[in-house]
Amino acid sequence: MKYIIEHMDKKLWPWSIIEYRHISSTVGKDNLIITNVKVKDHKKIDFCEVHSETTDELELDKVCVLDPAAEKTLDPSDSANFDYLVFGGILGNDPPEARTKDLQIRCAERRNLGVEQFSTDNAVAVAKEIISGKKLSELKFTHNLTIDLDEGEEMILPFKYLLVDGKPFVSAELVEFIKKKKGF
Ligand SMILES: C[S@@+](CC[C@H](N)C(=O)[O-])C[C@H]1O[C@@H](n2cnc3c(N)ncnc32)[C@H](O)[C@@H]1O
Repeated sequence: MKYIIEHMDKKLWPWSIIEYRHISSTVGKDNLIITNVKVKDHKKIDFCEVHSETTDELELDKVCVLDPAAEKTLDPSDSANFDYLVFGGILGNDPPEARTKDLQIRCAERRNLGVEQFSTDNAVAVAKEIISGKKLSELKFTHNLTIDLDEGEEMILPFKYLLVDGKPFVSAELVEFIKKKKGF
């Protein structure tokens, strides 16, 4: 299975690059494709195959878009139906906006991972677990990750998180980045 992230935000933010690097370490460099990236940004994401074109322009077959608004839920049996799983490279808002609907690919099917919003790196990790044989109902989750900052401040990330060995699936690099309060 190949995992495609279609970058949909206006800029390639440092936060996006950290999430994309986390996705590369989750699925492997050879299994990650990032589309819709300006040529000037290609060398910033040298941990994947990168394209300036949109995913639709690549004209791929057996494609599934992961969308919280899809009618069907991704199932382990879908590993036989698809060669490519496509995700929106969207940092996400609270309350969530339905921007994944703008990710339209001819002939692609759509699947959800439940209705609640994951960060893109968590959505990929959950989909990978399902494609490897676990049903969504067999996975464990938590909500709203709190990152402690200096002097009693905190930042709450308003997403659903996959639990791995009882801990939220989050990139250590992202936690460090947030603690330094560098913004997006
Ligand atoms: C931060 S989420 C953005 C969700 C946001 N509410 C939207 O659609 O504008 C980034 C990507 O992760 C994937 N994703 C996140 N939660 C999902 C879910 N519950 N079901 C399917 N895909 C999901 C989608 O591909 C989505 O575009």
